[in-house]
Amino acid sequence: MVEIVLENLRKTFGDVVATDAVTMTLKEGELSTLLGPSGCGKTTLLRLIAGFYIPDSGRVYFDDRDVTFLPPHLRNTGMCFQNYALWPHMSVFDNISYGLKLKRVHGMKYTKSAIDKRVNAALNLVHLEGLGERHIHQLSGGQQQRVALARALVIEPDVLLLDEPLSNLDAKLRMEMREEIIRIQKELSITTVYVTHDQHEALSISDKVAVMDRGYVQQFASPREIYAHPQTVFVADFIGQCTFLSGQVENIGELIDVRLPDGQLISGTSTIDEYPFEIGEAVKCAFRPEDLHLSSVSSDDNRVRGTVTRTIYIGTGLEVYFEVGGVSAQALLDPDLAISPNDQIELFAPRREVMVLPEGGIEALKRVPGHPMFPSAPPTTASSA
Ligand SMILES: Nc1ncnc2c1ncn2[C@@H]1O[C@H](COP(=O)(O)OP(=O)(O)OP(=O)(O)O)[C@@H](O)[C@H]1O
Ligand SMILES: [Mg+2]
Repeated sequence: MVEIVLENLRKTFGDVVATDAVTMTLKEGELSTLLGPSGCGKTTLLRLIAGFYIPDSGRVYFDDRDVTFLPPHLRNTGMCFQNYALWPHMSVFDNISYGLKLKRVHGMKYTKSAIDKRVNAALNLVHLEGLGERHIHQLSGGQQQRVALARALVIEPDVLLLDEPLSNLDAKLRMEMREEIIRIQKELSITTVYVTHDQHEALSISDKVAVMDRGYVQQFASPREIYAHPQTVFVADFIGQCTFLSGQVENIGELIDVRLPDGQLISGTSTIDEYPFEIGEAVKCAFRPEDLHLSSVSSDDNRVRGTVTRTIYIGTGLEVYFEVGGVSAQALLDPDLAISPNDQIELFAPRREVMVLPEGGIEALKRVPGHPMFPSAPPTTASSA
């Protein structure tokens, strides 16, 4: 098992900054996902870990070993590519055994019987026993996906890298394969990096999630932490539903009071430890749908008033969309309520459940002294020339 340490990684392609300032530690045996929209740099970061790319700057460590410039085949990583990259006219067995035939342990090749044994074990692991002689083009999408996984696992890698492995599967198969991957990953406890742009997938399988936007990892934490304490507006917006009301900081105490343009005052809490809010700073108050209630819990709850635009009955709840000062807001209420469009509605949000977030992404996080992911430059002492 291996711990992966990424230190200030940057990779550009010409003018395109594919990923930058990535600093994080992927603990041994954990499954971490890289989550973010198309083009945010997930595959680039995965390929930096695999060794298919060398970073412009920064370092990659496997435990104490600096592997930044080590070629992929010497890193002992198993990788599933975004498009599987199987050889269609070769048999399942030949696809899986390919890497093993090339692998040398202390300079020695595997014997034929050792290869047979390992390939069969890998086929069993992904529940494809008996299909070794089939050709790839004779398999279903889900079976091909399993072959790709078996091929990555057969070399007994220290690190498993999976790039959107389930994106070609239908919803039901995707769920099944997701459970398979979790089972195998836990069984072998391989340090795993899993790329996806599907937030549900990320939340349901990960020990840790790295939320990426335009090349930067904005937060790297457990699913629970990401949902409850998003560090940026982007993260709050990307994970789950959220309503954002813009305003200005009016008072800073244990809670932060924010004045909205329509005069309402909202009190909430910061989700970023040590962020230096300033009076007058433009911020966003973020509400989760389930944090808005029809009746008040305490006399100092925030009140949010608006006009209902649409309701959706979802069985376990009633999604209520309403407009507050030109912003569309969303609440999740009791399914038995009779609420209709154009109703005036007043909802209550306990002050501790309202999140106050600075504007901006990592620029804001860089203002936190000694932030673990974006340590700010040490203060320079002014010199009198
Ligand atoms: N080989 C390359 N040459 C030039 N630009 C590249 C190359 N690979 C990636 N890029 C650019 O770098 C950025 C990040 O790409 P990357 O493939 O890492 O994104 P991604 O998050 O994996 O996206 P997707 O979800 O669509 O797979 C994009 O703007 C992309 O166009
Ligand atoms: Mg990709």
